[in-house]
Amino acid sequence: DASDIEKGTYPHFMLKEIDEQPFVMRNIIQEYQDENDDIKLDEDIRKAMSECDRVYIIAAGTSYHAGLIGKEFLEKIAEVPTEVHVASEFSYNFPLLSEKPLFVFISQSGETADLRSVLVETNKLGHPALTLTNVPGSTLSREATYTMHLHAGPEIAVASTKAYTAQMAVLAILAVDTARAKGLTLDFDPMKELGIVSSAMESLCDQKEVFEQIARDYLSTTRNCFFIGRGLDYFVGLEGALKLKEISYIQAEGFAGGELKHGTIALIEDGTPVIALATQEHVNSSIRSNVQEVVTRGANDCIISLEGLDREGDAFVIPNVHSLLTPLVSVLPLQLISYYAALHRDCDVDKPRNLAKSVTVE
Ligand code: AGP
Repeated sequence: DASDIEKGTYPHFMLKEIDEQPFVMRNIIQEYQDENDDIKLDEDIRKAMSECDRVYIIAAGTSYHAGLIGKEFLEKIAEVPTEVHVASEFSYNFPLLSEKPLFVFISQSGETADLRSVLVETNKLGHPALTLTNVPGSTLSREATYTMHLHAGPEIAVASTKAYTAQMAVLAILAVDTARAKGLTLDFDPMKELGIVSSAMESLCDQKEVFEQIARDYLSTTRNCFFIGRGLDYFVGLEGALKLKEISYIQAEGFAGGELKHGTIALIEDGTPVIALATQEHVNSSIRSNVQEVVTRGANDCIISLEGLDREGDAFVIPNVHSLLTPLVSVLPLQLISYYAALHRDCDVDKPRNLAKSVTVE
């Protein structure tokens, strides 16, 4: 029962849940590994994944952001065409579906009404559905054909943290399993790579004072803040912006680095904080030019990069992890920066205004 969960020595559930992420990764590795070190997965899910011609990911909020990363995993690792949709839009605006769609519902709570209204429709149409959830007995889990458990442990803070990284980890495992079932060759051992992710997360959790200082320097009095990135980093930036908005009430937006010049750059003023992620080798120089563009207009830049791609002046360098799995690590600084920004601004971190943990109305 959620009411039995204690904060222990932590001042807030959010901070506790951020800190739990390395353990959640190890938990997922254990739960999805069999005695031969193969992926342990329901045979019916494996079959559904190999038989479908397209995956439709349906989710909301942070879970939608995990879905955006999931699409990259499914397409790049398993070569399964994938679309990601915001549930509330999809329910009255079904796109043209492929012949053999598989619906993947991603939901921490398993109770989000916007997702359920889509699931009711896809069930009526007779399409298979897989729910990825942290609550196996939940509505979305019971009403879908298949379920994969996130094994993140109860998440109490309204701002989702460990469920997001768990969702991405489970999606990576699903993608690798599908690739193997299809006979694709890949040099990617997901359990080994997730172990590396877990250690990297741990080292970030040990350096909280750095992120507290970044929050103090960049966000104590600002009205707004931008997150920029390219590729996977863009999607993580969207999540960073959502986190910051919901708990610190700072107006925050995530943008694709290349899109700034098409309008948003007009908002950059002297001192506007711009948090940039630079973890992707193939776009490292272009995201850095985007940072230059905003710095020239007065922005206060804060670059979070990946070991090996770092340059002098970066605010923080995350330890090296597999290039597809950087979102699982690069989001931690953003979670922590948001946490401390909310704290410094005297906001109610665990129960932000106007928000509920699970949104059971459409
Ligand atoms: C995350 O910080 C938010 N509180 C919110 O966006 C949440 O992710 C969304 O409401 C979806 O919830 P679910 O994963 O339980 O379906």
